[in-house]
Amino acid sequence: MLLLEGKVAVIHGGGGSIGAAAARAFAREGARVFLAGRSLPRLEAAASAARSFGGTVEIAVVDAMDQASVDRHIDEVTDAAGRIDIALNAVGFDHLQGREIADTSLAEYLHPVTGYLQTNFVTAKAVARPMIALGSGVILTVSTPGARLTGRGLIGNAAQSAGLEGFSRALAGELGPAGVRVVCVRPHAMRDALDTSYTRQMFGRIADASGIDFDEWMDGLTGMTLLGRLPTLDEVAEFLAFAASDRAGSMTGVISNLTAGALVD
Ligand SMILES: NC(=O)c1ccc[n+]([C@@H]2O[C@H](COP(=O)([O-])OP(=O)(O)OC[C@H]3O[C@@H](n4cnc5c(N)ncnc54)[C@H](OP(=O)(O)O)[C@@H]3O)[C@@H](O)[C@H]2O)c1
Repeated sequence: MLLLEGKVAVIHGGGGSIGAAAARAFAREGARVFLAGRSLPRLEAAASAARSFGGTVEIAVVDAMDQASVDRHIDEVTDAAGRIDIALNAVGFDHLQGREIADTSLAEYLHPVTGYLQTNFVTAKAVARPMIALGSGVILTVSTPGARLTGRGLIGNAAQSAGLEGFSRALAGELGPAGVRVVCVRPHAMRDALDTSYTRQMFGRIADASGIDFDEWMDGLTGMTLLGRLPTLDEVAEFLAFAASDRAGSMTGVISNLTAGALVD
């Protein structure tokens, strides 16, 4: 029996690094996967990679910031598949990190805060309806170590990540009585996401501003971990597949620490 046999999964930001890795793991584990994202070529590439693991994968261009568009797509998925069991929001976008408050505009500070909190509200609201009607389901959110780190240049990322973790906990409390679980994962930066993720540009700017070579700067992040290495995309995707499965049926309201020990609980 595959981990996600018979499950229907929707991934927003499905063409991204974490979204595509999760699509591969979910498809391999037997889920029917619906990828929603912004740019068609990235969605097509993610779907084709996931299909090679044997699953059924469909794609749609959907703006994950827009409630009406997301609601419409969720209705289409529910009509096509009859149910939604798993919803992952893996939307990501470049934002300012590494600059202190005096040199940060209000708009730069608010960009990740409103952006990440908006898209997670929009997608969770849309999928909550069919999940409540079904009496089951799991909503997966993705935070960052910024929720618990301190230091220079992190205020926007910290407010966004701590806010998203609070949102995820509160949503778990709200949807728990309806049988719907909410699991937030908090991975550290992944080196193997750098080729496809917005993080290369963002981290690159911080390294440049500090006058440090990019690889050396990444080594600094690695040095924060207990394992002496950063997590990988596959590790995060495999955890998401487990968290989405019935084997994690008693797991909700949790912030899953995938930082390789950069943060300890
Ligand atoms: N990468 C890391 O090391 C890391 C570590 C910890 C946490 N995270 C978190 O993981 C999440 C995903 O990061 P990632 O590295 O996978 O990012 P990514 O590779 O850059 O992918 C993000 C995806 O989101 C899509 N997107 C952006 N705005 C959208 C919108 N309005 N509607 C629909 N799709 C939209 C992008 O579309 P396009 O294809 O059009 O660009 C892209 O496909 C973020 O929340 C990030 O904070 C990442």
